Amino acid sequence: MIYLNGKFMPIEEAYVPVLDRGFIFGDGVYEVIPVYSRKPFRLAEHLARLQHSLNGIRLKNPHTNEQLHALIEKIIAGNAADDQYLYLHITRGVAKRDHAFPAGVSPTVFMMSNPLLIPPRELLLTGVPAITASDNRWGRCDIKAISLLPNVLLRQLAIDSGAMETILLRDGFLTEGAASNIFIAKNNVLLTPPKSHLMLPGITYDVVLELAQAHAISHEVREITEEELRTADEVLLTSSTREVMPIVSLDGKPIGNGKPGSMFNQLNQLYQQYKA
Ligand code: PDD
Repeated sequence: MIYLNGKFMPIEEAYVPVLDRGFIFGDGVYEVIPVYSRKPFRLAEHLARLQHSLNGIRLKNPHTNEQLHALIEKIIAGNAADDQYLYLHITRGVAKRDHAFPAGVSPTVFMMSNPLLIPPRELLLTGVPAITASDNRWGRCDIKAISLLPNVLLRQLAIDSGAMETILLRDGFLTEGAASNIFIAKNNVLLTPPKSHLMLPGITYDVVLELAQAHAISHEVREITEEELRTADEVLLTSSTREVMPIVSLDGKPIGNGKPGSMFNQLNQLYQQYKA
């Protein structure tokens, strides 16, 4: 069962007019919220980021957080799996094609939830390969925009070369992954770039930093150079759907000893405990 503009229905029955500005311009924003044991994880933070994205595209939130929460609870209840991945999407609505904002148009609100398929254990034991690419996205990567063409193309580069993720570099510095945030470990210090307009402020990123703080893991939030990325002891990826994952090679060259390391093991264990 999905939610579309005030109604619950099977996904097969859900249609959006072709003039929806999401379809025509990619003019909308979204959230992906993990659901563990039927409870939305970090809901307040996801809704705050949604509001940040809506502010970024100057679209008034058509719902209060209480209304969104009630809709989310209904969607979760309407799906069989206990662990789900909830997708929430708001566009500027349906209007005659014109770049300028339309007047008097209601936003399109869509929500669906699917079983959450976290990475299989084997991948956490072996780690996964990644590649690097130049970050050619726009200057507002902090907005979780549905217009994901650069991210789609960048991620496909990884898939085409048998890797799991594309790690992005802008002007010689690490930004994030095509669909994830990136941490490195060097000499037992966890490092990650500071939030800026050049990356999505990840909810999992925040959780990992909080866990590091709470468990006295040395950490620093600062710019990371390409050189530091390539010579890191460990590289980790975080996202709502992939949690914390170890990256063990970059562009075909091993990271550290080419195996998931102690920083990954510790943070993954803490994350698994925290989410339970
Ligand atoms: N993507 N950076 C980008 C570009 C992302 O697309 C994502 C997540 C993240 C991680 O953010 P979070 O920890 O809040 O999931 C960082 C989601 C999962 C997606 O588009 O499917």
